Amino acid sequence: MSKKLKKNTIDMSDLHVPEHIAVIMDGNGRWANARGLPRTAGHKAGVEATRRAVRAAGEMNVGYLTLFAFSSENWKRPETEVRELMRLLRIYLRAETADLHKDNVRLRVIGDRTMLAKDTCALIEQAEALTEENEGLQLTIALNYGGRDELAYAAHGLIKDYKDKDYCPDIEEVESRFKSFLMTKNLPDPDLVIRTSGEHRISNFLLWQCAYSEFVFMDVLWPDFDQSYLKQAIEEYSGRERRFGRAVCKKALENASATNTKTN
Ligand code: FPP
Repeated sequence: MSKKLKKNTIDMSDLHVPEHIAVIMDGNGRWANARGLPRTAGHKAGVEATRRAVRAAGEMNVGYLTLFAFSSENWKRPETEVRELMRLLRIYLRAETADLHKDNVRLRVIGDRTMLAKDTCALIEQAEALTEENEGLQLTIALNYGGRDELAYAAHGLIKDYKDKDYCPDIEEVESRFKSFLMTKNLPDPDLVIRTSGEHRISNFLLWQCAYSEFVFMDVLWPDFDQSYLKQAIEEYSGRERRFGRAVCKKALENASATNTKTN
């Protein structure tokens, strides 16, 4: 295959493809349970779904894809499950980094690395360094990530930055500078957040960044996720009117009223 991912192999005409999609990949455990398998088998199948999602996002010309792989709360899971999740991540990085690079994907990892094993950190650093010039899909994996932690780190960074200054910044200055202290400082805010498995929660993911994101909750369990579900989520997103706090536009009101007249 060429240096770039094959583009436009999926018909996306008439759809508004979001620049940045973030995904809460949920349901690995239930997928395994339904098959009488250990939870770790669900995570293994979840890695395959992750591969499919990355490929599909690239083919659909999504600019940024951010995946919630391990939350700062996931350490509370049984030790064997945590160990297996970390092992799968290392396998993923070893197996995929070269292909991601070949496909012009840039990989970043966000989250607190201080609790990760040295060899995991080394694999992450190698993958980030190898792919840092790539301008295709911008893939971010959130690992030992928590939204509140991130906000606390950002506030801490900002406070330190003003420590030796003899004035207190006003709210507008704080808000405009805050983003540069977030782990996602190089990414645009997500346009679309997808959560699988039928749960309707944000679970401490990208709390600042999701202020104006559209949410699509899907009943599919993550290991069953594939490009058809990604397309379905983008179809739902394409039908949404994003207002960012503004009033409903006249055209949307006219459309709604035309629909009501038809159905009444
Ligand atoms: C949630 O399912 C999923 C996770 C906590 C881990 C997500 C990890 C993967 C998809 C695999 C590793 C990813 C990469 C990038 C290599 P759950 O276990 O909470 O499912 P449940 O709610 O059904 O129990």
